[in-house]
Amino acid sequence: MITGGAGFIGCHVVRLFVNSHPDYRIINVDKLTYAGNLANLKDIESSPNYTFVKGDICDFEAMLSLMRTHHVDGIIHLAAESHVDRSISDPFTFAQTNVMGTLSLLQAARICWEESPERYEGKRFYHISTDEVYGALAMTMPEGELSDRSAHKVYGNDFFTEDKKYQPHSPYSAAKASSDHFVRAFHDTYGMPTVVTNCSNNYGPYQFPEKLIPLFINNICHRRSLPVYGQGLNVRDWLYVEDHARAIDLIFHKGRTAETYNIGGHNEWRNIDIVRLLVSTTDRMLGRKENEDMNLITYVTDRAGHDLRYAIDSSKLQQELGWVPSLQFEEGIERTVRWYLDNEQWLDNVTSGDYMNYYEKMYSGR
Ligand code: NAD
Ligand code: TYD
Repeated sequence: MITGGAGFIGCHVVRLFVNSHPDYRIINVDKLTYAGNLANLKDIESSPNYTFVKGDICDFEAMLSLMRTHHVDGIIHLAAESHVDRSISDPFTFAQTNVMGTLSLLQAARICWEESPERYEGKRFYHISTDEVYGALAMTMPEGELSDRSAHKVYGNDFFTEDKKYQPHSPYSAAKASSDHFVRAFHDTYGMPTVVTNCSNNYGPYQFPEKLIPLFINNICHRRSLPVYGQGLNVRDWLYVEDHARAIDLIFHKGRTAETYNIGGHNEWRNIDIVRLLVSTTDRMLGRKENEDMNLITYVTDRAGHDLRYAIDSSKLQQELGWVPSLQFEEGIERTVRWYLDNEQWLDNVTSGDYMNYYEKMYSGR
């Protein structure tokens, strides 16, 4: 069972599992909130080993019944509310989905697995979390040196390791932190075989255009302003989404029970440098004069509680399981911009809200 498989990262995980594990039966459970889009899975929706179920992870009875019916033995849990800005205006929804939804899944899995003859043998509950639970890191680069991106790949001396203290600042990260604690509690209390991963910022195809990279590509195409929060100096560690999906596959199969693994690209970028790269790449691909749209950059009021820097130390994952990111950021950005330009219809459907009808068209009467 994969939860949240119609979302951004989830659709890449579902696609990878459906294609590379033909002997598995994959059940994608998704509520199809504004962030869920079945068009993300068009290419695999008729695969014989794939089933979509529209469902809410907060609905404990429905989750239990689904797990019993399908004899679910592995759960990869991605369903969540995921956008920090939305969590600032609507924290309740984040607590409900991310905390109560995770708890409801854990409890359903516990009951389902404890009543089976082999109990927890051969079972796994894999919870996908974020590096944002660790809070923010300091920037130790002197201001003066910051102008030259090429000179720096890291902006501080400190990194998020797996034993870093949890210090979430946003309602989003506080809810994710809470859900991580519940997952670990189910291992420690009931012996449930769990694993947790905390990943850095993802980018790539099918990301909802409320997040920095797809929002800005879309805005550059339409010559709308690019609202950079504060001075654009905040640093994120970016990972191409398919590299994350590959790590999830590896950890689901080979990660040690009850462990935490951090996943990251060792690829720190200040927001303003990403925005400049997006402008130059998109302009070039659209045949516009390079950098012609730099004037769209607009500095706006900073996000409340805006974390300054995220940077992951993923050496545990690299050393134990041999995972390394496959793409350089510039190449990943080229691919991403190309994908959004080639999939204008997908973007238009998402921005117009048309994608919401996809479920009715595809699944009504089934
Ligand atoms: P997303 O917002 O694109 O997708 C979330 C999916 O969950 C959607 O399909 C939505 O319909 C579904 N969903 C929401 N509430 C649900 C509910 N109550 N029941 C069932 N389905 C529900 O999110 P994403 O960016 O793909 O992130 C997926 C997971 O990865 C999240 O848990 C997030 O915290 C984590 N994560 C994301 C990033 C990132 O950069 N995007 C980085 C690290 C970790
Ligand atoms: P986002 O994609 O929302 O991811 P997260 O907040 O989970 O890191 O934002 C990435 C960075 O870009 C973050 O520092 C906030 C910034 N940002 C802007 O400057 N302008 C925007 O319009 C958005 C959406 C984000």
